[in-house]
Amino acid sequence: MKVLVTDPIDDAGLERLRESGHEVETAYDVTGEALLDAVADANALVVRSGTEVDEALFEAAPDLVIVGRAGIGVDNIDIDAATDHGVIVANAPEGNVRAAAEHTVAMAFAAARSIPQAHARLKNGEWAKGDYLGTELNTKTLGIVGLGRVGQEVAKRLDGIGMDLVAYDPYISEERADRLGAELVEFEACLERADFLTVHTPLTPETADLISTDELELMGGGYVVNCARGGVVDEDALAAAVENETLDGAAIDVFADEPVSPDNPLLSVEDVVVTPHLGASTEAAQENVATSIADQIDAAFAGEPVMNA
Ligand code: NAD
Ligand code: MLT
Repeated sequence: MKVLVTDPIDDAGLERLRESGHEVETAYDVTGEALLDAVADANALVVRSGTEVDEALFEAAPDLVIVGRAGIGVDNIDIDAATDHGVIVANAPEGNVRAAAEHTVAMAFAAARSIPQAHARLKNGEWAKGDYLGTELNTKTLGIVGLGRVGQEVAKRLDGIGMDLVAYDPYISEERADRLGAELVEFEACLERADFLTVHTPLTPETADLISTDELELMGGGYVVNCARGGVVDEDALAAAVENETLDGAAIDVFADEPVSPDNPLLSVEDVVVTPHLGASTEAAQENVATSIADQIDAAFAGEPVMNA
């Protein structure tokens, strides 16, 4: 079987596919007609977030059995088109959860203590000790929007450093929140009570621009962290809220359009800390998701159940 890999994945996943006897072809940074040509004789396609898997791609790939997402989010895959073409979509929903949770915690601290800003100035020869007075997370309230796999791991870690936890997630039970020491509250209460608001939902029509001007005004201060998906937090509204000091700061790993354009408003606001979608970028996480998706592809070829997205 031919497996086409269009976003870089860990070598362990490529090796596992080859050990299973598949022909593995990598075609990174390929778009448009070149992507459609590359996928024409593929039986499986492996992507991360860099490849847009749309109707045109399915049309161009008549032998495709499965699209494997080496990671969690499948918002770059047109699931309806996959269904219409009889193609399985699978993801690797466990392997990068801890990496994403740790990055979220790191981003919260980075914003609260202006670490990137102070780092950049010191590297530039400036001893700006007097310019930074940070905020402790201890005793503050963490508002978690989306208490799924990543949200829960973030909850455990930040509970451990003494934060009070409130959460909004209309699809989970109060018992699950209780077990984590989080109080399940309505959306508005989550916003009003949060000193730090962290978002961990998928990007869906329901969550697009979930946090915008009105929601940021309800927070009336504090920090927003988004290591989930760009587009869940309205970027123009967030940049304006930090700029006009409605908020103290923000930490953003994911953007509505990636790679992010240099004129994205979030890049020019001093108190917005940014990283280029690094939440899952640890050695362990990348090995986990790459080998997991290789196993899913083998399962699909063998007609066995796969872990659907
Ligand atoms: P998950 O499916 O386990 O959890 C998502 C949670 O969001 C669920 O509990 C669901 O009930 C809740 N939810 C859905 N709609 C909601 C709404 N309208 N309001 C509030 N809650 C809602 O997903 P996960 O594995 O925890 O991943 C969370 C997000 O993190 C996804 O967007 C994923 O793509 C992203 N992610 C990003 C990185 C990164 O590199 N930055 C890494 C891993 C995951
Ligand atoms: C995910 O949804 O798993 C993340 O986007 C991680 C990634 O693949 O970069």
